[in-house]
Parts: sequence; structure tokens; C-alpha cells
Amino acid sequence: MSVTSPDSVFIARSEGISAEGVRDQYADGRAAKVWEIFIGDKNSRTDNYKKFLINLLKSKNCKRILDVACGTGVDSIMLLEEGFEVVSVDASDKMLKYALKERWNRRKEPAFDRWVIEEANWLTLYNDINEFIGKGFDAVICLGNSFAHLMDSSPEQREHKKAIRNFEKCLRPGGMLLIDHRNYDNILETGSTPAKSLYYNTSHTADIKTSVLFYCGKPAMVTMDYVIEANNLTSEFRLSYYPHELKRFSEILKEIFGSKAKHQLFGDFKSLNDIKNPAFYIHLIEKNLN
Ligand SMILES: C[S@@+](CC[C@H](N)C(=O)[O-])C[C@H]1O[C@@H](n2cnc3c(N)ncnc32)[C@H](O)[C@@H]1O
Repeated sequence: MSVTSPDSVFIARSEGISAEGVRDQYADGRAAKVWEIFIGDKNSRTDNYKKFLINLLKSKNCKRILDVACGTGVDSIMLLEEGFEVVSVDASDKMLKYALKERWNRRKEPAFDRWVIEEANWLTLYNDINEFIGKGFDAVICLGNSFAHLMDSSPEQREHKKAIRNFEKCLRPGGMLLIDHRNYDNILETGSTPAKSLYYNTSHTADIKTSVLFYCGKPAMVTMDYVIEANNLTSEFRLSYYPHELKRFSEILKEIFGSKAKHQLFGDFKSLNDIKNPAFYIHLIEKNLN
């Protein structure tokens, strides 16, 4: 048997039901069901970075935002409440169903009535949502360690580049991409993942067991087994991630946006001067004006 990717040697996540061409790790509904418990109170989660994000978006005159990994809708909802126009997409209908429910419950509020929610996959994003792009979004956000779900076994990271190219195409000239990933440099060095962070501050997370799969001598996949304890019940789910190392990820962004594109880096939404070993890196990269 010829081995062509890490996936073919080790089944590390929910097989997923592929409606759009990617495996939906959330397809069995286990993570989706406890996701909001994992996140903790929605407001206290977004309070951790709301001011930073809103100030940033306003300072760049952003009004129309595309949330490309909306999941259950936590960031999109915050942005709608702050007066932004939001289009939210995700590949997982199991996750989207919670966002759709919120839109329905709040349909009497004009912002929620106008909220566009679509199923879409980053690899075909530009075509999937073409009718909503218009002159391009002011900002694309991909937060909560979402991008790392996209596996890529090609040494040149073809799929990652394709997805980021699609994000770039959805932006207007001068628009910005805000995208994050966990601090995989540290995870690879220590072999462990902090259970609590600015995104996941619930008191219910008991543990995240971390495994690193090496493939052809290189770290190829990080698998996290989550244990959530709430209301005397224990829920477990497994998610796998591509371990984006900071230097390489920055290089890919520059390759897609161009070497002159303005790129800024934050740690846990703070300046890197103020934080030594962040749980998350957040990249801000701007599309050139011409
Ligand atoms: C870790 S969850 C985060 C959701 C939300 N941003 C949050 O922080 O709560 C990651 C989301 O990315 C979505 N996702 C993963 N791969 C995707 C792809 N190729 N296209 C679109 N969405 C994808 C998953 O379905 C999931 O809802």
C-alpha cells in the first residue's frame, strides 16, 4: 500500500461527512453540542478581545465583515451587536445550526434579520459566496484556531495557499484579513496545550490531551482530546489540527498578499512586547490598494 498523507496512517479525528469537499470534523455533532460550554459565557469570551477587535475594525473604516469560520456564531454575533454588517460561513452544518437558531430567535432585530449565513468551504469559498462579495469585504476574519483544521499533506502547502488566496479574493483593495492559530511552536516544544485561553475560558474544561504525529520526520498533525465536565456529565471530543509554525505561516501570508503587504502580529490580542509566550498568534495582513 502506498502511503500518501498523515491521514492515511492515523485516523485522528471524526471521519466527517463530506458535502463540500472537505472532511467536517464536527459532523458527528459531539463538539458542536458542547462547543458553547467549552467557550464559556459568550460575552465573557468576547470581552477578552472585543475592544481590540472593534477598535481595530473601526480604525480601518471596516463596515462589511466576512466571518469565514463562524462555527456557532460567537464572533459574528458580537459584530452584529456592535453594528457591523456580517456574512458568516462555515463548512459544518452541525455548527451552523446554532448560528441559524440565534438568527431566528433574534429576527426582530434588523441586524439579525439581515444576517447572511451560508454553508461554504474555504477551498471553494470565492465561488461558493460569489453573490455576496460585491466590491469585496472590508475585513475577513478567521478566528478561534479554525484555519488549523485544514490539513495539507503537500510539502508546499498547496491547500493552505488556495484557502488564503480565496480569503484575499473576497477582500476589497485595502481590506484586511485577521487570522489566528494556536502557538504551535510552543505546543511542539512542550507537547501540551493550555486548556484555558482567551477564547476558551470556561470552568468546565477538565483537560486537553495533546498528541503530535510526525510524518516523514516533520510534525504533521496535532490531535487534541478534549474533556468537558458540566452538570455532572463528561463530554469528550477529538479534533485535529495542522501545526502552523509562526515563521512559515507568516511567509505564506506574504506570498499570497505580496511582499509589500502590511503584516502585523499579535499574541493573545496584545502587542508581542507585552506577552512572552501567548496561547494564540493573531495575524493582521492588509490587501494592497492596487
Ligand atoms: C474551532 S471552530 C471555531 C468556530 C468559531 N470561530 C469560534 O471561535 O467559536 C472551527 C470552525 O471552522 C470550520 N471549518 C473547518 N474547516 C473548514 C473549511 N475548510 N471551510 C469552512 N469552515 C471550516 C469548522 O466547521 C468549525 O466550525
